[in-house]
Amino acid sequence: MLLTGLSGLEYRGYDSAGVALVDEAVDVYKREGEVSALESALPEGPVPGATGLGHTRWSTHGPPSDANAHPHTDETGQIAVVHNGIIENYQELRDELTARGHVFESETDTEVIPHLIEERLEVGLDHGPAFREAIARLEGSYAIAAVFADSDTVYAARHESPLVIGLGDEGQYLASDVPAFIEYTDQVIYLEDGEFATLTPETVTVSDETGAVVEPVVNEIAWDPEDAGKGSYEHYMKKEIHEQSRAIQDCLRGRVDPETNHILLEELAELDLPATVQLVACGTSYHAARYGARLLREHGIAAQTFLASEYRAETVPVDEETLVIGVTQSGETADTMRALREANGAGAVTLALTNTVGSSAARECDHVCYIRAGPEIGVAATKTFASQQVALALVTGVLAETAEPAFLQGLAELPAQIQTVLENSQAQALADAYVDSDAYFFIGREYTAPVALEGALKMKEITYKHAEGFAAGELKHGPLALVTERTPVFALLTEGSRLEKTLGNVKEVQARGAPVIAVTDAPQTVERYVDHVLEVPSTHPYLTPILANIQLQLASYWLANRLGRSIDKPRNLAKSVTVE
Ligand code: F6R
Repeated sequence: MLLTGLSGLEYRGYDSAGVALVDEAVDVYKREGEVSALESALPEGPVPGATGLGHTRWSTHGPPSDANAHPHTDETGQIAVVHNGIIENYQELRDELTARGHVFESETDTEVIPHLIEERLEVGLDHGPAFREAIARLEGSYAIAAVFADSDTVYAARHESPLVIGLGDEGQYLASDVPAFIEYTDQVIYLEDGEFATLTPETVTVSDETGAVVEPVVNEIAWDPEDAGKGSYEHYMKKEIHEQSRAIQDCLRGRVDPETNHILLEELAELDLPATVQLVACGTSYHAARYGARLLREHGIAAQTFLASEYRAETVPVDEETLVIGVTQSGETADTMRALREANGAGAVTLALTNTVGSSAARECDHVCYIRAGPEIGVAATKTFASQQVALALVTGVLAETAEPAFLQGLAELPAQIQTVLENSQAQALADAYVDSDAYFFIGREYTAPVALEGALKMKEITYKHAEGFAAGELKHGPLALVTERTPVFALLTEGSRLEKTLGNVKEVQARGAPVIAVTDAPQTVERYVDHVLEVPSTHPYLTPILANIQLQLASYWLANRLGRSIDKPRNLAKSVTVE
């Protein structure tokens, strides 16, 4: 059960894994590598124990190794702990504990925790109070769970790192995300920052920092466990690329009134129209945010995008008429959470645009708009990017209090057009032609400029090859120096995003020998100028980037596949980055 749960969560980190089982002793098994490596390190046959912990790690302190893998234990071997997040004062605690004779076996920040608990047990405290007092010493972010050799209880604490409890008929579950236990229960409790939980096989108790028991809200998860599986696809990423038509249908369901041509986002009914909008996000979500900001500005709303890790509410003017939108698939990204907290602290109105019901962002913000993409397991974001763009288009319609009929018509046709792209894409053929290239460049303009950035991010993430995305006009201001016959250029040549100008940039790269792959809704116009065409149907210019991006996702996917890369779990990455 623990191994299955860890496999369901492996996208959160996969450089080492471990389990601890309680069976009158705490038996710990851990290995560097993926969950499969741990599996082969376990003894043959059933491992005894009906209470346990498991962890997959994404390294922060200390490289991936057997010793640095979680769970970590104290010297007596009676306590085992797993932890997500970063203990910021760990060095001070470690020095203090070392001075009192504790010996450490790993380089992790986590290992101080079982030693702190051990000391509290030695002075006579029971498990629960010992756990609480140890946690009180920690600074930083954490989701922690601990077990003890002589008890079937799991103790847990949360501060700025997600933890969710699953309520089952035959046991209770605890994880950093729902896919770990969705096959056993859909009844969940999201722990709040500062809360503690105690799980026995029959009961779950949640308490606050003072120890007072709190009545938790029980949510029902609407996912089908099948949704979180790979089905007949070779990779989650491929499955998720192919789910985009359905994801967009789900995102739109009930949100556009065809009679009145109005966008209905009930979630925003209580939102006053802001004077200005700031969007904060990271990575792929940042690219979606760039798209959203452009759309808002086009509708006369002053909007700016910030990389969440660079956002500082004290240097960016914020007041109660500022709406700060956190665009975050997971709703748990630490950089984005920090920015949203700052915005809230500075008096802004906040909106979480997220895929994850009950996530930290959803709970931190004044308002929440769900993108409804369904679970995304592949580390490289695909369908959630498309759903974020559509959701941002809907938010724009609400804030601008208007929606062009042609745009709404385009939205209604989008799921079928996505299907057309998926069924007819020629992207796979490019993999053979360009697998040996030195680098890949992506250029776009206006609405397709963020897609050029996203195309390059996806390419570097899953192929490990050099890729860069540029606003097409910027090429000649420097990047052109990199262009050779060994650097194919993906050019987003679409009507509505000043195709003719980008065609001029295409000529510039061709003059340096670069092969050009056009992603275009105007094949007749562009095919005579380029080496390959990836066609997308014509639609409203606001929606073309969503279709164009699918071609780029497929191009990266097939190249990575040809290179035999670890597509769903690219090296060094994790799906939710819950550290700053
Ligand atoms: C790239 C990717 C990341 C995430 C980023 C933010 O494929 O997935 O760049 O977009 O880590 O994650 P969220 O959206 O969960 O805040």
